[in-house]
Amino acid sequence: MTHRGAWNSRWSFILATTGSAIGLGNIWKLPYMIGVNGGSAFVLIYILSIILVGLPLLMTEVMLGRRVQKNPMNAMQSLAKESNRSSAWKYVGGMGMLTGVLILCFYSVIGGWVLSYISTAIFEGFSNITAEEASAHFNALLASPLTLLLWHSIFMIVTMSVVSRGVSSGLEKANNFLIPALFAILLILLGYSMSVGDMQSAFDFMFTADFSKITPLTALVAMGHAFFSLSIGMGSVMVYGSYLKREVSISRTSVYIAAADTLLGLLVGLAIYALVFVNHLEPDAGPGLIFQTLPMAFGQMPLGNLFGSLFFILVAFAASTSAISLVEPTIAWIVENTNFNRNKASLGLGLLIWSVGIVVLLSFNIWQDVTIFFGFGIFDTLDKLTSTIMLPLGGFLMAIFAGYLMKKHHSKEELDLDNRGYRLWQYANNIIAPVAICAVFLYLFNTTS
Ligand code: PFF
Repeated sequence: MTHRGAWNSRWSFILATTGSAIGLGNIWKLPYMIGVNGGSAFVLIYILSIILVGLPLLMTEVMLGRRVQKNPMNAMQSLAKESNRSSAWKYVGGMGMLTGVLILCFYSVIGGWVLSYISTAIFEGFSNITAEEASAHFNALLASPLTLLLWHSIFMIVTMSVVSRGVSSGLEKANNFLIPALFAILLILLGYSMSVGDMQSAFDFMFTADFSKITPLTALVAMGHAFFSLSIGMGSVMVYGSYLKREVSISRTSVYIAAADTLLGLLVGLAIYALVFVNHLEPDAGPGLIFQTLPMAFGQMPLGNLFGSLFFILVAFAASTSAISLVEPTIAWIVENTNFNRNKASLGLGLLIWSVGIVVLLSFNIWQDVTIFFGFGIFDTLDKLTSTIMLPLGGFLMAIFAGYLMKKHHSKEELDLDNRGYRLWQYANNIIAPVAICAVFLYLFNTTS
């Protein structure tokens, strides 16, 4: 163990990074984005983005972090120095840290929604709730700033108290149990959806490719979500990689992480859409989708209140392990560069994010009509700015750095691949990923200007 902490085993790293990857992005965001963005067109680009862009960049980010064992900003600075490049590269790490903080400002509010559903599942239950009642319940939650504030505050307190204790100890134990449990309960939900839902329509909706529905925006949003879902482009994975021991194979672990993350998201999507179609609900309900459909499912299945409570508890855990990874880069930076210790850093940063989160939660009710960016509201602006611009941009810059500016023998040594594997990575990292990101950006700017 180094003084900055290290994972106890390869497995801990896989679990922690999978814990960062699996979160609200898979369970809350992916399903509704599939619905809002035309179903299978979105899924297709999402899967392609994971394989062609996400996976190589996941490897790149782990590799960059492990090479110098520092927080993202210092890591980029040291890496640049090591290869005689401008120290301005540190700002890529800095931008990543800012991205994570901005994401947590809204992530925590949605984490709060999940907490409030745990309380409803346990104390009221969803027995025989109808579609209208489920929608009304959700809308009532959004309309109440104080309730949202309560749950957002609890979510932030829990997250920051884990962060203040240090990531490697608490997180390892939690993840060991959490991820298998989440998969298990998801299989129960899927089994239920298969037996009562319209799985055929769900499957068609998600997987029968309709190329006519692909627009530049769909492409950008789907690719942005691949970044969001894998937690790449902002330094989370870099900082987790920095706690990783040398002997671990980066490529193999990255494949596990990407596969688990994608599989889980798509399974949740299938489970939800089978219920959406059998109940004649609208697939494009937006951010409320899972909160309006799942209570109905739990309300009808045997032992539904138990499974419902368990499900939302596990989602809350999954959200908090992701939330932790959103702030860890900045916390590591503060601890390694200032006199503040972890406790003070967590308190200060936590308060800042909590305060901005209040602005976000008000955008669901009293500030619903406030727009700040191209007609987008506060939540939408933060979400779009981070997922579709900042994460892909961060990923692009990291790919360029690792592929063209870092000394080749350094990346080769760190990735530890045979010649063929290394060439494959180079091809994906140096060409496919940057070109895909640029193409989608250009395509979008051309069509919107
Ligand atoms: N990957 C997380 C999710 O899907 O919920 C969210 C996330 C965590 C995004 C960490 C970015 C990140 F750096």
